[in-house]
Amino acid sequence: MPTPVLSCAADRLDASLARAVAALHAGKLVAFPTETVYGLGANALDADAVLRIFAAKGRPATNPVIVHVASIAQVALIASDWPDDADRLAAAFWPGPLTLVLPRRREVPDVVTAGGPTVAVRIPSHPVALRLLAMLGLPVAAPSANRSNHLSPTKAQHVFADLNDRIDLILDGGPTSGGIESTVVDVTTRPARLLRPGLIDPAALERILGPILRNVATPSTSLPSPGMLARHYAPRTPLECVEGDGSARVEELLNAGLRVALVTRQVSRSGSRILTLPADPVGYAARLYGALHLLDAEGFDRLIVELPPDEDAWLAVRDRLRRASS
Ligand code: TXA
Ligand code: MG
Repeated sequence: MPTPVLSCAADRLDASLARAVAALHAGKLVAFPTETVYGLGANALDADAVLRIFAAKGRPATNPVIVHVASIAQVALIASDWPDDADRLAAAFWPGPLTLVLPRRREVPDVVTAGGPTVAVRIPSHPVALRLLAMLGLPVAAPSANRSNHLSPTKAQHVFADLNDRIDLILDGGPTSGGIESTVVDVTTRPARLLRPGLIDPAALERILGPILRNVATPSTSLPSPGMLARHYAPRTPLECVEGDGSARVEELLNAGLRVALVTRQVSRSGSRILTLPADPVGYAARLYGALHLLDAEGFDRLIVELPPDEDAWLAVRDRLRRASS
């Protein structure tokens, strides 16, 4: 049977959430919307259930998952300490697209943390995610709801296309507003350390904490966070990033007989297939994965993406584009 996709429209919400809560209590896998991307959830305290997430995604056991909770009080179920920096960041950004890496409690199954001494936690701000977590009353382990190394889903249809038949339920809360994954910050060390850039940029973190360590792994360096593999978040179509204007590269590939699409932030360009994304970082992030999912389905040989400027506000977008390029 295909995986059921349940509407979260106002008149269906309570019934859909009730089914999702029952499924999670039974150790099943439920995809749900967050404000960043869709997550693939399981009861974080049930090792067998979390193992099923890894099987469904084809995720390597060395990559730990983020645990989602409904309140700061619930963090105590999984973390053994709540450092000052965590308190200050949570006050500023929770619920929201920020993940904190904290010392773990022994009760957290090894599969969640990849056997490591820390656990990653966040309170999402999406109303469907928050209600689900509050009704369930348990922490929910949830990586992005895609097969390992595929693009993250920003719509329920993306989840269905990638994971149909491999998971138990999909809650459809419409397109996500944020569009790329949360910022991950390790607060077990001082100063705190940025592990993955995301919707909250480093300058915003530093306004709260003062200077932080920013040595995020680039695709060519070693990995501070086990999940920061060089190639990640990638469409199936080979993607190439260019600094500045991409039209010369497009022209070159068209002349070589390839089918090419260009992703740009400028309007009124001519040439082959052109997809224009918003010129501001927040708008661009919100639409990026949707655009790549769309172009992937159109059957090009190559996607050319013009990199936005090398500035703080664009850090997460540039990071995702580099990881998506082959
Ligand atoms: O926005 C998001 O963060 C989405 C939604 C569903 O919450 N989730 C998400 O999960 O992107 P995932 O599994 O695709 O990415 C989790 C990232 C990985 O880079 C992983 O290595 C890192 O968080 N991570 C998880 N636990 C960690 C830990 N204990 N220490 C360091 N990094 C950790
Ligand atoms: Mg992911």
